[in-house]
Amino acid sequence: MTTASAPGKIILFGEHAVVYGRPAIAVPVREVIATAEITDINQTTHGQIHIEAPEIKLDKWLHELDPDHPLAKIVHLTLHAIGSPKFPPLRLRITSTIPVSSGLGSGTAVSIAVVRALSTHLGQPLPLQRQSALAFEVEKIHHGTPSGIDNSVVTYDQPIYFVQGEEPEILQSETPFTLIIGDTGQTSPTTVAVNQVRQAWQENPPKYEAAFEAIGQIASQARRCIMEGRIHELGPLMNQNQTLLEDIGVSSPELRVLIETACTAGASGAKLSGAGLGGNMIAVVDPDDTDRVEIALREAGAVRTLRTEVST
Ligand code: PMV
Repeated sequence: MTTASAPGKIILFGEHAVVYGRPAIAVPVREVIATAEITDINQTTHGQIHIEAPEIKLDKWLHELDPDHPLAKIVHLTLHAIGSPKFPPLRLRITSTIPVSSGLGSGTAVSIAVVRALSTHLGQPLPLQRQSALAFEVEKIHHGTPSGIDNSVVTYDQPIYFVQGEEPEILQSETPFTLIIGDTGQTSPTTVAVNQVRQAWQENPPKYEAAFEAIGQIASQARRCIMEGRIHELGPLMNQNQTLLEDIGVSSPELRVLIETACTAGASGAKLSGAGLGGNMIAVVDPDDTDRVEIALREAGAVRTLRTEVST
């Protein structure tokens, strides 16, 4: 049996603007993971793959799935990448603790876990850059026009500074910091928010370009703060980023409540994370205040909170 996994992720700064060429920062969330498990099975045709994903009630042979199904796609892409050698009948079982459609990278983590498990089981583990490129192809199904930040951060499992079309920069930081993630409980498919922003950008390019530029500058400043250990400056930068995300129309009343709650309970700054219109918010919190902020978020309606330490 071969088992592989990949973490969840959260976008710290720069979502949406990153689709328009500006920089963004994302970090892994290792408290939640997707796992893929491969076992050889008997008594079936050579090379057949049976796929089980209990959380989405999927129990099918690969050939029964539409080729554009994300799981079918990542399996085919992986087999193609390793030259589709002859292999015994296999069972692929996928499990995940990452909430879906909430900005935590669940689809991406599943793709990466499958690439890793399958290529390793078949004796040809793929380099990280290739894993990321394969997951990016599947992102196109989830996202339409993905920037590539999700597959990069999940593959490298490190905080990254990302500009579309460039190799991600692993962010080195000597000062770890704590994030609290609060889930509004409202699923929000990334394509909906990304398409909404695209339409608004087409209607008013100067307004949106100015917002994207300002968001990109915040991401650049945050990069320097992280690398130089000026963690106390991250909260105010998050608040500025949130104001701009409000301006481009991707916040929501529920996100606003959780963001305000976190700040009132002691977070030094907070913002939505990912596509917005639902999903998760994040807050940067002094370690002494984490319990207070988490409790306040749950009382204010967060269906789930997670605590993660960002370090390299
Ligand atoms: O997958 P999410 O919800 O974290 O959103 C990804 C971030 C976007 O900038 C909105 C889209 C992208 O491809 O970068």
